[in-house]
Amino acid sequence: MITALNTQFGIKGHLDFIEDASGLVIAKIDNVQGSASLCLQGAHLMTWQPRSQKIPVVWLSKDAKLASEKSIRGGAPVCWPWFGAHPTESTFPGHGYARTVAWRVIESGIEPCGATRLSLRLVESNKTREQWPHECNVDLTVIVGETLRMELNTENTGDNDFVIGEALHTYFQIGDIGAVSVNGLEGCEYWDKVGGSSLKRQQGAIGFSGETDRVYINTAAECVIHDEKLKRRIHVAKSGSFSTVVWTPWVEKANKMGDLGQPDGWREMLCVESANALDNQVKVAAGTRHTLIVEYRAVSF
Ligand code: BG6
Repeated sequence: MITALNTQFGIKGHLDFIEDASGLVIAKIDNVQGSASLCLQGAHLMTWQPRSQKIPVVWLSKDAKLASEKSIRGGAPVCWPWFGAHPTESTFPGHGYARTVAWRVIESGIEPCGATRLSLRLVESNKTREQWPHECNVDLTVIVGETLRMELNTENTGDNDFVIGEALHTYFQIGDIGAVSVNGLEGCEYWDKVGGSSLKRQQGAIGFSGETDRVYINTAAECVIHDEKLKRRIHVAKSGSFSTVVWTPWVEKANKMGDLGQPDGWREMLCVESANALDNQVKVAAGTRHTLIVEYRAVSF
């Protein structure tokens, strides 16, 4: 399988496929602008580091485990076709099934700017059809260079409309959670998921001093993570996304989760997720497509 993948989609000086000790297949991207890795299971981007940065921009837990049908802690999980708990079926997995099922490579190439492009398509099975009985193609394209671009495309190939929730649930590498703030969501309404669920409005920049789990709604704004310790800003630009989720588990929840890199791994990550969740779920009419796009860049100061 690895040989066939490398023959068909490998690109010298850009992209090759390897098999991890777990048996999962990883796409390794390395070009003059940056490097990244992506697990084919879940189309899960695990790492990204542009050459201009000494420290990765996307965070992967040092306790991340690669295992069949399990989500990886860190990177950029693809949440689809629902975000959070399924609205009616409590046995269906949180954040949908896309992040734990097989995807196959459908295309690779080099962009005019020199970045590496890789596209994957979710592989349907009886298990996915049980949870999502709609005809569709779900594709993820990643473009790895000095910036990281990801495009999550949902094409409704059936005769009936459907509604999806989704997110690119990216974990960003930060110096310390106490030394970062997030701009771009000033004045936005958000559902505060800590201690129940209530609608609030953001005043000023977001700072962190405890568990934070918020779904900002009706916002297409670019967010900027200002990191005083690493002396850099991470820009999170997006289109086709009208919710932004900001999440840090803080110590108690991190200890319960157990795979965030004990004891303090959680302090070095922050999730800023470009989503369509809750009020912003998307109706994809029969015969149409919907695309959520993110583009990340890091600027030192
Ligand atoms: C965030 C949610 O998007 O993902 C949190 O808002 C959740 O509530 C977090 O804890 C991690 O989810 P999971 O399923 O990857 O552990």
